[in-house]
Amino acid sequence: MTQTAPSAQTSDVPEYTPLNRHRLIAPGPVEVAPDVLLALAQPQMHHRAKEGIEKLMYARQQLSQLLGDPYDAVITTSSGTGAFEGALVSTTPPGAKVVNAQAGKFSERWGQMAQRFGYDVQIVAKPWGELLDADEVAEACKDAYTLCITHSETSTGALHDLGAIAKAARAQNPDLIIIADCITSYGVAELRPAAWGVDVIVSGSQKGTATPPGLGFVLFSPEVQTRMIKDTPHGFYLDMTRELAGQKAGSTPQTPAINLIYALSVALDRLLAVPLDVLWAEQHRKNTALIAAGTALGAPAWAARTSPAVAVLRPPAGVTGRQVAARLAALGQRALAGQAPHEDAVFRVSTMGYADRYDALAIAGMLEDAFAALGVQFERGTGVQAAWQALK
Ligand SMILES: Cc1ncc(COP(=O)(O)O)c(C=O)c1O
Repeated sequence: MTQTAPSAQTSDVPEYTPLNRHRLIAPGPVEVAPDVLLALAQPQMHHRAKEGIEKLMYARQQLSQLLGDPYDAVITTSSGTGAFEGALVSTTPPGAKVVNAQAGKFSERWGQMAQRFGYDVQIVAKPWGELLDADEVAEACKDAYTLCITHSETSTGALHDLGAIAKAARAQNPDLIIIADCITSYGVAELRPAAWGVDVIVSGSQKGTATPPGLGFVLFSPEVQTRMIKDTPHGFYLDMTRELAGQKAGSTPQTPAINLIYALSVALDRLLAVPLDVLWAEQHRKNTALIAAGTALGAPAWAARTSPAVAVLRPPAGVTGRQVAARLAALGQRALAGQAPHEDAVFRVSTMGYADRYDALAIAGMLEDAFAALGVQFERGTGVQAAWQALK
């Protein structure tokens, strides 16, 4: 690829742009399949009626199946952050030591949350874009009650080695409770919580499960369920001990978002139509295609160990992350710039959700259009060709 300094001038959007299909190519909320959306247009059901109870129980069973381990699922009426909050306060007693391993926007959030609740928080940090060190995290966990960690860090595109970190931490402290933010790895990246020794998995509906926003998921290992806190002083609505007992019996203590739960089931039927390793491998290939396209066009990945949920790419010289995202937006495509304070250092595109390998090719083409409009010099077709190679 030849690359010269981009011209400052950007051309107008093409005249055909109003004909473009608007797509969500950001790492959540993601595209949702038509049958999932249609499921939201059914006559209102009652959550205490037989039909409502069956829908809840079926969705919970599907969520365990998507995890691949016999963990029990709680569905919260919240985004993923609410689910994480419930998981933390329902497993970790007031004042306990919490280790927060952080290397990006989302992992930082769990430290802030734990501090707000008055836990004794120890932060183990790496700069954004870098990988967490298993030994460093494990050392801090020696006398801790709980470790809060993010598997797929959506702000940097790093997939932290959750298996290695959990193993090292548990070797130091067999009683440690490990809560993993798998908000963009659940149903997306290889995740083996039972084998890795991760007690609690947290996610949300608008990511890998390709459902509209509004549901959180917490999956509890059988062992951690014996240690959950009764009547936590830090939560009532998000008391997962009460919620888990209720949901196991087919009844939520509060009114659940039953319509979304039904829609979730329709989306999960599609994901569960193939074995988990096929699902993970295809998501990996799609994202590798985005990274290959970016790299061929002068926009390589930020992280060394990349998450299959999102391609976090450094824009070509002279172009900013915000410019790339804005240009894609002008073409009707919703991508994201980096997260503050790295808005211009990277941009983010994703094929998570209702998107297939052919969408990955389309995104490679969009990157070519966006870069060309921003004055980047490259040979047309280079990005799409690289994406095709990665998909083979
Ligand atoms: C890794 C990660 N953690 C946490 C969150 C926050 O989730 P929510 O917005 O569903 O509360 C996100 C959302 O993008 C995420 O990607």
